[in-house]
Amino acid sequence: MLVLGIESSCDETGVALVRTREGGVPQLLGHALHSQIEMHRAYGGVVPELASRDHIRRVLPLAREVLASSSAALADVDVVAYTRGPGLAGALLVGSGVACALGVALSRPVLGVHHLEGHLLSPFLSADPPEFPFVALLVSGGHTQLMRVDGVGRYELLGETIDDAAGEAFDKSAKLLGLGYPGGPQLARMAEYGDPQAFELPRPLMHSPNLDFSFAGLKTAVWTASQRLGSQPCEQDRANLAAATQQAIVDVLVHKSLKALKATGLKRLVVAGGVGANAALRAQLDAQCAKRRVRVHYPELHLCTDNGAMIALAAAMRLQAGRAEAVRDYAFDVKPRWDLASV
Ligand code: KG4
Ligand code: ZN
Repeated sequence: MLVLGIESSCDETGVALVRTREGGVPQLLGHALHSQIEMHRAYGGVVPELASRDHIRRVLPLAREVLASSSAALADVDVVAYTRGPGLAGALLVGSGVACALGVALSRPVLGVHHLEGHLLSPFLSADPPEFPFVALLVSGGHTQLMRVDGVGRYELLGETIDDAAGEAFDKSAKLLGLGYPGGPQLARMAEYGDPQAFELPRPLMHSPNLDFSFAGLKTAVWTASQRLGSQPCEQDRANLAAATQQAIVDVLVHKSLKALKATGLKRLVVAGGVGANAALRAQLDAQCAKRRVRVHYPELHLCTDNGAMIALAAAMRLQAGRAEAVRDYAFDVKPRWDLASV
């Protein structure tokens, strides 16, 4: 079975084709991505209306590119999958509209996928795929969650952020440091030559008894520290503050992940979402987990941030596991807010 997947929830248009395999992880035949970063950069963040319009421009050419690179024809596609939510409503409507139109035209069923389930399952496309059950740390621009994952579609929320997401903390702090959009990768680059000890920043909720997170206070502390540096801080001060910010975020994420592993007794951790690309987070999780004989799995670096491959994969894995049915109901709706534990 061939599944075409379309991702358009935020500022990346992604299309991919996967083939299901008897008893195995679906095989990625091809994927193509267009990032809108350059377009939004001038505005310092994602402009939803521009994002929607750009998805419209990109999605069909990307689909053609994927089919050509996979030596497949549109008529070979058995199921058309798309990101149904969460995300920007207008952006989601583009992907779901195109997917359903293709479904009608080809007389093929469609399947709406949860964006975070895509992230969560994306490490299955890596050379070292995980096995169920595991603890998942989902860290993206809009979400920070710890989940217990017992199988496809069997997700239990262990804890989540009560305010900002980890990616948001990176992005907002980067802005305070005068760095452009998207802030996470830029802050991480600047942190490489900074001293994380140079500033003392809070680790909100790190020692709370539950597995929830909070990053809003950290952003305020970074703002206060940046104000103290004056209007024209030197490069080293900025790098030190970037390093201290990254360290505070990473400390909390690592500490809570270890706590979730301990609480569940599981020995496997999967890290997914854009912040999962952060090298300091990876290094510190690897070191701490190695000490505890916990295996850590990541998606391949290029599949950490939004992409179509994870959407096609999640749809194919759901169908294989009998956890979803593709339907010939093309009256699509989108879910800009959607709880993963409810899928
Ligand atoms: O998963 P994602 O691509 O989109 C959402 O679903 O939100 O995550 C985007 C987030 C942004 O906040 C971005 O700054 C952050 O991931 N990010 C990083 C890095 N790469 C992306 N944060 C820290 N270090 C990175 N290397
Ligand atoms: Zn995402």
